[in-house]
Amino acid sequence: MKFVPPEIIDEIRGKADIVEIISDYVSLKRQGKNYVGLCPFHLEDTPSFTVSPDKQIFYCFGCHKGGGVINFIMDQENLTFPEAAAKLAEKVGVVIPEVDISVQDYNKQSEIRRLLEMHELAAEFYHKIIFDPEKGKLPLTYLKKREVALDVIKTFYLGYAPPYWNTLVKYLSSKGFTPEEMEKAGLAAKSDKGTYYDKFRNRLMFPIRDYRGKVIAFGGRVMGDELPKYLNSPETPIFNKSQSLYGLNLAAGYIRQFDEAIIMEGYMDVLTAFQFGIKNAVASLGTSLTAEQGKLLKRYSSNVLIAYDADTAGAKAAYRGLEILQNIGFRVRVLQLPNKMDPDDFLHKYNYGAWVQLVQNKSLSLVEYKLQAAMGKYNLKTIQGKADVVKELLPDINRIKSQVEKDQYIKLLANTLGISMESIYADLRQSKKIVEKTDIFSKEKHTNNTQVPVTCITGGKRQNALALAEMNLCKLMVEDRATFDLVEESLGLDFAKEEKITAILYFIKNIYEEFDWLPVTLIERLEQPILKQFTSQLFMEELPGNNNRELLVRDYIKTIKLYRLKKRIQEIQKIIHQHEQDNMTGDTIQLLQEFTMLQQQVQQLKR
Ligand code: CTP
Ligand code: MN
Repeated sequence: MKFVPPEIIDEIRGKADIVEIISDYVSLKRQGKNYVGLCPFHLEDTPSFTVSPDKQIFYCFGCHKGGGVINFIMDQENLTFPEAAAKLAEKVGVVIPEVDISVQDYNKQSEIRRLLEMHELAAEFYHKIIFDPEKGKLPLTYLKKREVALDVIKTFYLGYAPPYWNTLVKYLSSKGFTPEEMEKAGLAAKSDKGTYYDKFRNRLMFPIRDYRGKVIAFGGRVMGDELPKYLNSPETPIFNKSQSLYGLNLAAGYIRQFDEAIIMEGYMDVLTAFQFGIKNAVASLGTSLTAEQGKLLKRYSSNVLIAYDADTAGAKAAYRGLEILQNIGFRVRVLQLPNKMDPDDFLHKYNYGAWVQLVQNKSLSLVEYKLQAAMGKYNLKTIQGKADVVKELLPDINRIKSQVEKDQYIKLLANTLGISMESIYADLRQSKKIVEKTDIFSKEKHTNNTQVPVTCITGGKRQNALALAEMNLCKLMVEDRATFDLVEESLGLDFAKEEKITAILYFIKNIYEEFDWLPVTLIERLEQPILKQFTSQLFMEELPGNNNRELLVRDYIKTIKLYRLKKRIQEIQKIIHQHEQDNMTGDTIQLLQEFTMLQQQVQQLKR
């Protein structure tokens, strides 16, 4: 079996949507956020086999099998990991490169690795210049004029490409890269004389990262009115524009947390949004949105707010994006910015509060948006025009599951066009037959979450508050780097009585630097079946309450700290008691002091 490089595994996972793949084997039904069906791995007559499109994992609450899409194929077809990956690759059209060398040799020589290294170095090179007292003056002044905060410059690692011909070429040569490699990376170009020069000169540099945070390309903006305004890296083996989203590496955790992604058009929009505390925003890199970008987002949430520029180009792009996103099962809203504004302009002009209001009052659902667009397109004074609008909207209204919601839209449509609701219902019944065969995604997309059982993590048994705190805290940690860091700092990694939790946390600690915090990556990398199962369950269970993660984390930390304190208090009481019986007075005083201190701490925590 040939070796499958990790980046190819990533590509396969990106393209093989777990719900689609498993649907070929199991009949799945939407239930809240997840899909459920009868487990193919054990006999059952009520479905406990669950698939999560957001997390791209499956888990059976009956037989506890779980994993990512590749694990599913392994179990289902009895294949090894590379065999299952190869099978899936063929299915979704990914080519696995022929490599006959050993894994280590491959990694060392890998072109991709060299390209990534070069980009990382270039990003650092550009970024440092910004803070050079001389060379950095120009870009810093520009950024100041545009009110970009210093920490945003640092977080997004903005840079400056100097106005000379070959500073980067020289720098990368000194690091052992050939001009040919730089040309391939899109960082240098060859002149007629055969010499190589810097592709980006006198531009503000935006490093573009993949979802794991690796620099894969650059966008370079002029600081004046020259054209083109932006120069972007060409497609390379590490950069595929239609599969990248600017800012996703930073936004991913927030998208999951808020269960919504905001898609904007430009680099500057994402930067400014971040600066104003809107951290779940990404940019589609100027092109209209692609299905691949949608699938990338789907790992984190199924809700999207499109916040494109309020100009005709932006509106067109939003419309196309909307179609694409809803076809892969997103619930989409479109934000309506005031004329000619983009999110960057809006936030600087009106501030965060106005943004929140705008989102609340001026974002249209898919049907509302389409109605508005259709009204501009057809002549509403004619009967034909009205009929065309209805016709255009029917498929979307048809897809809405909730009858209440459906009624509302039909009412809206009837009122707007000045026709009767009955005639729209009649047309709807007519068109229904045609729409019936839409795929499972769009048909089920409007279910709400009310039927989802809030299971918490109980493992079927009743568990005390401590065990629950350990489990859920572990879930929160493995899902989000910031939480992992926070808990490690306040409790360490050894806080759990459950050994599996400790094992998982240390496993993550070991792969920390390269870990992308995706459930499926973790599950696939865990070798022991028992840990794989446990982690699948962890990811699949719902958190209790209203899902306020920060509050939960704080609560659980408190529970565990209280338990620790109480345990030590009990120990001390026991020793003191023993001392009394033995008539020893030695360190009783010291123990009593500790006892008092611990009790104070308990009181403090309880407050
Ligand atoms: N874009 C591009 N090439 C261009 C123009 C635009 O790649 N010649 C892409 C960039 O990713 C840019 C996005 O399209 O961020 C949106 O373009 P635009 O709205 O013009 O840029 P802004 O991000 O708003 O930048 P600024 O506010 O600095 O004008
Ligand atoms: Mn702008």
